[in-house]
Amino acid sequence: MSLSVALTKGRLEKSTVEMLSQCGYGVDGLIHKNRELVIADTVKDVRYFLVKSNDCITYVEHGVADIGIVGKDTLMEGGKDYYEMLDLECGKCRFVVAGLKDCNPLSKVGHIKIGTKYPKVTTEYFSRKGLDVEIIKIDGSVELSPLLGLCDGIVDIMETGTTLKENGLVVYDIVAEISARVIVNKVSFKMKKKEVMAFLNDLERIVRKNA
Ligand code: PRP
Repeated sequence: MSLSVALTKGRLEKSTVEMLSQCGYGVDGLIHKNRELVIADTVKDVRYFLVKSNDCITYVEHGVADIGIVGKDTLMEGGKDYYEMLDLECGKCRFVVAGLKDCNPLSKVGHIKIGTKYPKVTTEYFSRKGLDVEIIKIDGSVELSPLLGLCDGIVDIMETGTTLKENGLVVYDIVAEISARVIVNKVSFKMKKKEVMAFLNDLERIVRKNA
């Protein structure tokens, strides 16, 4: 039976496609892609969709994709109706609490205002710490919000740390380590077990090899 695989566009795309290529999958159509949205593997019975991270979960949860490759950051913030099967140990970054130099939001007495694209992750982190937080949901350029006085700090993804540094922000705590994960639709895991397991085993072999 053929497999449908949803891949996350952008940050994770290159390393994911590289891993599939290392596994011997025919990913030429993903390397030299045009505007086509459904791309067939030239070696295996697999078709790929390149989608935004949140949509990757949606496609897997609805069974349109049997398998998805998506960042742990999106999984921590998003739905739960899938099996998380494998850590690809690529696309590594961190969720951090950051703020202006000498203004640690975690040391503030009372109400703390945090700007973030990730309200769920942020709420869980602050409630674990027993701190009183007000979340200000921001969709992009989160680093701007403490600079302009909108909030006391941010919870955001840090990969190289360049964006924080260039905006004069420092890290005050690490919320979670993040990497790319493979998720599987619950029905596909039963109905296409052989194909799904073969795909997972191929990737696991490369994860071990690259470790
Ligand atoms: C993320 C994050 C930071 C930046 C950090 O944004 O929100 O702005 O990357 O990366 P760095 O530590 O390597 O500088 P992203 O590029 O995913 O874009 P977005 O703001 O559109 O989500």
